[in-house]
Amino acid sequence: MAERKYASSTRDIPEVSAVPRHIAIIMDGNGRWARKRYMPRVAGHARGLESVRAVVKACVERGVEYLTLFAFSSENWRRPQDEVSFLMQLFMKALRKEVARLDHNEIRLRVIGDMTRFDPELVRIIRESEEKTAGNTKLTLCIAANYGGRWDIANAVSELMRSQPERRDGFSEDEIADALSMSFAPEPDLFIRTGGEKRISNFLLWQLAYTEFYFTDALWPDFDADALDQAIESYRSRERRFGRTSDQLVERSAQERHA
Ligand code: IPE
Ligand code: IPE
Ligand code: MG
Repeated sequence: MAERKYASSTRDIPEVSAVPRHIAIIMDGNGRWARKRYMPRVAGHARGLESVRAVVKACVERGVEYLTLFAFSSENWRRPQDEVSFLMQLFMKALRKEVARLDHNEIRLRVIGDMTRFDPELVRIIRESEEKTAGNTKLTLCIAANYGGRWDIANAVSELMRSQPERRDGFSEDEIADALSMSFAPEPDLFIRTGGEKRISNFLLWQLAYTEFYFTDALWPDFDADALDQAIESYRSRERRFGRTSDQLVERSAQERHA
């Protein structure tokens, strides 16, 4: 259940800051990056890990508080068996290798997704890494693995029904939000998808209600700190209205200036 409660974009108006507080990324295009170089698709995944390192570092430097990365979707099991096992191995290796460094840089690691299908050894490493970094406050790096937005919502509602079988009136938005796997974080301010596709692919369906979307043709292994800055720059130029009119926003900022 919830560790902390954050403003919900449909029920309150969240604070808007120049640097997005929470960035969520669909890291797409690894396979195409490799194919362009006549390499096997998995070489693109290995190379994509370097972009992860660069983007994590850049987020820390820019004061981003939460970074959520889509590493493996609940639909990615449909890929060839070899590629799926490579991705699982890569995830395990990366955790083993990087956790000390994450901890040293005061980064808290969280993993969201359905862990029931994972190798028990992988689950153990995930839990251990989360515990080791639990007290860190510089950046929360959230990895979505075997994650699906529909799974998350169905899981949240099922959990609520299990814990409160007497409830007959249904559950509120806030109750559902608190039961989702990312209840520890505010909703993402900025969503980035690399690789040129313009779709959500069952990522954070609930949490993206009022997120600003940014799509780039850059393939994930080519995405770096400069590319991140371009996305943040685009984010800064948006007017986040949350249902209100543009005039209301102007009025509000005038009131704030005089307060
Ligand atoms: C994204 O890259 C990484 C994962 C889905 C794990 P892809 O592997 O989807 O790369 P493309 O889209 O085939 O180029
Ligand atoms: C989305 O990428 C999932 C991840 C990046 C982990 P996909 O490459 O699997 O998405 P689709 O299938 O093209 O929508
Ligand atoms: Mg893809």
